[in-house]
Amino acid sequence: MSSLFNLPEIKNPPVVIRASDVSKRFVIRKDKSLKERIVNFGRSRRHKEDFWALRDIKLEIKAGSSIGLVGANGSGKSTLLKVIGGIIQPNDGVVERRGRLAALLELGAGFHPDLTGRENVFLNGSILGLTQKQTAEYFDSIVEFSEIGDFIDTQVKFYSSGMYVRLAFAIAVHVDPDILLVDEVLSVGDEPFQDKCMAKIREFQAEGRTIVFVSHSAAQVEDLCNRVIVLSHGQIIFDGATDEGIVALRESFGK
Ligand SMILES: Nc1ncnc2c1ncn2[C@@H]1O[C@H](COP(=O)(O)OP(=O)(O)OP(=O)(O)O)[C@@H](O)[C@H]1O
Ligand SMILES: [Mg+2]
Repeated sequence: MSSLFNLPEIKNPPVVIRASDVSKRFVIRKDKSLKERIVNFGRSRRHKEDFWALRDIKLEIKAGSSIGLVGANGSGKSTLLKVIGGIIQPNDGVVERRGRLAALLELGAGFHPDLTGRENVFLNGSILGLTQKQTAEYFDSIVEFSEIGDFIDTQVKFYSSGMYVRLAFAIAVHVDPDILLVDEVLSVGDEPFQDKCMAKIREFQAEGRTIVFVSHSAAQVEDLCNRVIVLSHGQIIFDGATDEGIVALRESFGK
């Protein structure tokens, strides 16, 4: 297997991410209909409902593996990625992680809209545990990789989706992460940039870094991943070989 994916041979790699019985609940507030409001006159205009986006997730990810996290829209992929990354806390269960982690999440996550690209690079650097000096060392290379040029000094709220992802990906891959979490976002980059990102991800694989990759592209998952986890309604319904995972994914649609 490892020769196929160009991974360095490591006997018994350590577990770098472990999720034990992780569940995540969101409280959804819904506006009541006019009729409900008249019937319940005087009470609140809204009612609350619990929604479990993740239920009893158990998984272990070993150093150097590349995991494809797939599932239908709303199945819980982005939520799981955020819980793994420590961006949101689970209501139940525990996530343990080892090593430096960089996350490329949904569009908008991670950047402060009123700050410029440059300021966001430094902000992200410090969140990821780099000193100002270390970030300054990476800075030119980040801007070069992103190819956004002079827009680095524009507030990121004026960025196009693609420019946003370019800068976010450039930061994520420059902070020397042991674990890289990538949500679907890469698809908003143009083709040359997507190719460049995939090449960078392959380089990371070859260096033995750990990658958790959310994608709706079966081809990309087949290309990159040696293990697939399929989510459906917040639960893991398959965890195993990529080809079987793609079949399980297709069967999960509409369920
Ligand atoms: N902050 C939130 N508040 C309420 N519900 C949420 C929140 N975040 C996610 N959800 C709900 O949790 C479920 C899972 O969402 P999630 O974004 O993880 O799905 P996904 O698998 O990433 O979907 P997609 O393929 O569309 O990106 C959805 O039903 C979503 O509406
Ligand atoms: Mg998502």
